[in-house]
Amino acid sequence: MALYSDKVMDHFRNPRNVGSIENADGIGEVGNARCGDIMKIYLKIDDDIVTDVKFETFGCGSAIASSSMATELIKGKPLSEVAQLSNKAVTEALDGLPPHKLHCSVLAEEAIQAAIDDYHKKTEAIVQQN
Ligand code: FES
Repeated sequence: MALYSDKVMDHFRNPRNVGSIENADGIGEVGNARCGDIMKIYLKIDDDIVTDVKFETFGCGSAIASSSMATELIKGKPLSEVAQLSNKAVTEALDGLPPHKLHCSVLAEEAIQAAIDDYHKKTEAIVQQN
């Protein structure tokens, strides 16, 4: 059996939603101290819906495939649903990752959480200003 599923290879070779968003509503950056890989997620949010999402991942192929798949899973979804996205859901959507590569999908979960936290912080700051 191949180490990586066709879906992992596809998202690694043709990652979706690569890049950044100018004036993003939420930005999350996380890293894994062990491997040194870094993932950055940009969210555009309108009426509590993730209308656009982009990512920059400086990391291994599994991290790139995980971020690509994660962006596909959350695009167009309400924040409440996006906040629930687990690395398990990302891994399942990729038809699995080798056990020693599961931490790469955790980065995607954490980066999205960090972007949502950033969005909440920003919106709270605006509410306080008014
Ligand atoms: Fe660290 Fe993949 S090896 S994110």
